[in-house]
Amino acid sequence: MNEKSTDTQGSAYGRAPQHSNKLLTEVGPGTPCGEMFRRYWHPVAASSELTSVRPQKLRILGEDLVLFRDGSGKPGLLYSRCMHRGTSLHFGKIERDGIRCCYHGWKYDTEGHCLEQPLEPHARTRENIRQPWYPVEERYGLVFTYMGPLDKKPLLPSYDILDAIKPGEYYDTSFGSWGTTDDHSLSVVPYSWLHLSDNFMDPLHVFVLHSTFSGAQFDAEMALIPRMEFIPTEGGIYHSSVRTLPDGRDFERLVQWMVPNIISVPPIRPLRESPSLGISWIVPVDDTHFFQVLVARWPNGQRMYHSRPNNNTRVTWGEMNERERRDYPNDFEAQMGQGEISLQSEEHLVSSDRGMVMQRRMLNQAIKAVQEGGDPANVHFDADKALVKVGARNLYRVAETAK
Ligand code: FES
Ligand SMILES: [Fe+2]
Repeated sequence: MNEKSTDTQGSAYGRAPQHSNKLLTEVGPGTPCGEMFRRYWHPVAASSELTSVRPQKLRILGEDLVLFRDGSGKPGLLYSRCMHRGTSLHFGKIERDGIRCCYHGWKYDTEGHCLEQPLEPHARTRENIRQPWYPVEERYGLVFTYMGPLDKKPLLPSYDILDAIKPGEYYDTSFGSWGTTDDHSLSVVPYSWLHLSDNFMDPLHVFVLHSTFSGAQFDAEMALIPRMEFIPTEGGIYHSSVRTLPDGRDFERLVQWMVPNIISVPPIRPLRESPSLGISWIVPVDDTHFFQVLVARWPNGQRMYHSRPNNNTRVTWGEMNERERRDYPNDFEAQMGQGEISLQSEEHLVSSDRGMVMQRRMLNQAIKAVQEGGDPANVHFDADKALVKVGARNLYRVAETAK
């Protein structure tokens, strides 16, 4: 056995054993973080893409499920293995009032009640059978599910900025890679949800990583390194960054993060006072995968920005080859480079990581609240509190430095 190294010259030999932050990266049933995530509603599909033609496979929080819309239009989410002998309901046929297993034809409604067992002459067991199911609701063009204990099911929250979307107004619902790339190339991102969560409160990486990718990607004023503050709120953090503009005014940008996995970011371009136009969720698929969901209003039907490597108009991230990705790494490369699950034991956090540290602490508090039998932050059971007022915005202020 190796003796513990007494080398003080930084040799790679004899490094300390590695470990990850299991408390925040393990999301399966029964894990502390998984149980915390199961106390919230999560978006799992776009309503427009959930048709009654075929069921969809859905893996979320380490569970394999089947999502479908019955012939009457009602969405349902069932455990994927049929209660009879375990074939996947992914091969099932959708009918007006439920989904019929392809193997022996047992039919289940959206809450798992067994409606038929066509080959069973003594179907006395039918009423005692319940295919495991999860509650589903639709809002903002999204299908949401709640995977926790039914007696703890909170209200599905409303968000004022999404309620403000007028009928017929253009808005975008995207699944997959927004925030990681700009062109929806990945539907499921192959590393821990915590990498992107950490990135939410790591605004300074923009000045190195993003400038490598696309030069001065924002307005020149946005390229000024701001004075930053991380302000804890009830159930989240405001990240404030203040830049003093050449005309002497201060420009403050407020980004809002909400426990456990929601962020709202105001527009980057043009540099002007503006409220946030949308919110996005990071939804863990399992310990080493997630997808990101965005709902946002975009003025005139335009996305706000499309970053391209080295300001090259030829390719987007999804069109780059391996060599170009190494020459112009973006968020995906930086976060994938941390491994499927990052090693907490090898981090050396510094003062500019303080927002991320605050965020992890709040996630730990939410986990602890669930473990102690309470409710985590942002879980609400009465309608007044379940309306979330999103405060992320860009603001001009009188310069603090104009003294
Ligand atoms: S396995 Fe589903 S009905 Fe038999
Ligand atoms: Fe980034």
